[in-house]
Amino acid sequence: MAKIKTTFFCQNCGSQYAQWQGQCNACKEWNTIVEEVLQKPNKLSHDLDSSKPKRISKPLKIKDIDGRKESRISLVDNEFNRVLGGGLVGGSVVLLGGEPGIGKSTLLLQVALKINQKVLYVSGEESQKQIKMRAERINPSNDSCYILTETKTQNIFKQIQDVLPDIVIIDSIQTLHSDYIESSAGSISQIKECTTELIKFAKETSIPVFLIGHITKDGNIAGPKILEHMVDTVLQFEGDRNHVFRILRAHKNRFGSTNELGIYEMQGSGLREVSNPSELLISRKDEGLSGNAIAGTLEGLRPLMIEVQALVSTAVYGTPQRSATGFNAKRLNMLLAILEKRAGFKLAAKDVFINITGGITIDDPAIDLAVVAAILSSNDDVSLPKDYCFAAEVGLSGEIRPVTRIDQRISEAQKLGFSQIFVSKHNKITLKNSGIKIQLISKIEDITNILF
Ligand code: TYD
Ligand code: MG
Repeated sequence: MAKIKTTFFCQNCGSQYAQWQGQCNACKEWNTIVEEVLQKPNKLSHDLDSSKPKRISKPLKIKDIDGRKESRISLVDNEFNRVLGGGLVGGSVVLLGGEPGIGKSTLLLQVALKINQKVLYVSGEESQKQIKMRAERINPSNDSCYILTETKTQNIFKQIQDVLPDIVIIDSIQTLHSDYIESSAGSISQIKECTTELIKFAKETSIPVFLIGHITKDGNIAGPKILEHMVDTVLQFEGDRNHVFRILRAHKNRFGSTNELGIYEMQGSGLREVSNPSELLISRKDEGLSGNAIAGTLEGLRPLMIEVQALVSTAVYGTPQRSATGFNAKRLNMLLAILEKRAGFKLAAKDVFINITGGITIDDPAIDLAVVAAILSSNDDVSLPKDYCFAAEVGLSGEIRPVTRIDQRISEAQKLGFSQIFVSKHNKITLKNSGIKIQLISKIEDITNILF
């Protein structure tokens, strides 16, 4: 009798072991190693099918290789096209990850409903009725959008042969299972096998495939890291669930830059593309409020104006509280220390709270100056003029340091009607006669002299 082949996989990182052990050597997690049946006896894996002649590829000189650009399918969604690097490449496999409820299924169903091509949406999570209800909320209807509720890859391929779609969407990869592997759906070996089958299908037919992937509690795509190596593009759909914004980001893209990002707003009728996010992130209605400052940041390659709010109040307890939402708390402590030491502000006995409005998190150092300005504004209880903005990093000795892509930040500020932008003296600005006044500063004291 043929022996059943089993191996032990770490469910966290995908490492493989010959026998069970308590802790994974690779990721150091405990109790994550599970035995999985690899192959049913008597069943030949499709890879081992020896009846077909093997195709052997030959090396080619690089100049002889067909260098024409891949043809791209344009999705009826500018933000998505931008993140993909100008459209969906035929035969590519795109993995979309994100927290539960963030809107992955909505985003891809919306893509399927808007595009003027035949789409097969395979769902292993929701019934056809549920998807219909969702589609009715989103509204635009595509006559050739097919919905299939199926989890077995072999059946999916059979249906694909009947429908002959131009795009396949799988919701989600963790619900699929293949006959070639015995272990349960969602296990490492099933995910690996199903992805391999789908990649093989995409490459052979040039039909692009979207895969939705769940993420684990620490934000990685569930299943082995190897999944991310296998696919062509890894996208992450993120955002704060309590806020309306959603950001689509490319973590890996074999056909484009990973700096691009798409911004959406979740509405009652699906996701709306936000082509000018700065307008939504800053509320310049509240005039005369102290503690508010606008920063010119970059998200990926996109300039984005955001609002920084600070609250400085006398500490009630012995140790002052420092808290930051959307901004690195360590960096806040550093900026406060610089203000104490270099500019002589007595902040040691003050509670300081920082908030980036809109629920987004910024790690661009260029918002340092806006944070400092907001803190000083709140400390003195003097509001900043509402058409001033800031884009510079603050160094440890209190110097104002230059930031990247300053021209882009300046033109975004100008486009939104700001009258003055504070930048480092050492930034090389090539932008000519812009309608905005550029204040060049070199030390942290300069800003207090100009503003307060
Ligand atoms: P969903 O796409 O199911 O998330 P995921 O597939 O990532 O788990 O999104 C579900 C959330 O989106 C749900 O909480 C309701 C909200 N939503 C809207 O606000 N408006 C809409 O039009 C739709 C379809 C969903
Ligand atoms: Mg879903």
